[in-house]
Amino acid sequence: MSHSPSTAASPKLFQHRRILLINGPNLNLLGLREPHIYGHTTLQDIEQRLTATAHAQNIELISIQSNHEGELVDAVQHHGILADAEDLIDAVIINPAAFTHTSIALRDALLGINKPFIEVHLSNIHSREPFRSHSYFSDKAVGVICGLGHLGYDMALSYLLQQDEDK
Ligand code: DQA
Repeated sequence: MSHSPSTAASPKLFQHRRILLINGPNLNLLGLREPHIYGHTTLQDIEQRLTATAHAQNIELISIQSNHEGELVDAVQHHGILADAEDLIDAVIINPAAFTHTSIALRDALLGINKPFIEVHLSNIHSREPFRSHSYFSDKAVGVICGLGHLGYDMALSYLLQQDEDK
């Protein structure tokens, strides 16, 4: 599991909000994997860009990618219901990848922490194989963004940052 919390530049940073970015199986291969569907942008590019955007608003972005369902469940618990003050997140952006269509365990983990989450997919899952149209997450998500490539992640973050400003 790659797990790269952003580093705080000053102790004042991140007192407002912390957002967890979760990417599921095979998304570590973005840029290499089926680029005609998923594009040429790497996951590292996406994580770095979102981290910079969040930092600009004094918000910490914690990025996690794993190919293992249990590791994702553990990470959600760790940053949610089991979290110390410095690990507790306020919202989640998640691309569950193939677990979208299979994982009741990850759905339950997200529901268990009772935090708002936005579901993102690079591809339009409704225009592909029929089995991709069903998501175990969409009915509980604040919103679902799909088909807009890597920019979908920026849009999800932008929404959460806007919510923060509106508080
Ligand atoms: C995906 C769509 C899923 O169906 C697929 O299994 C993925 C990526 C997307 O971002 O378009 O791995 O979540």
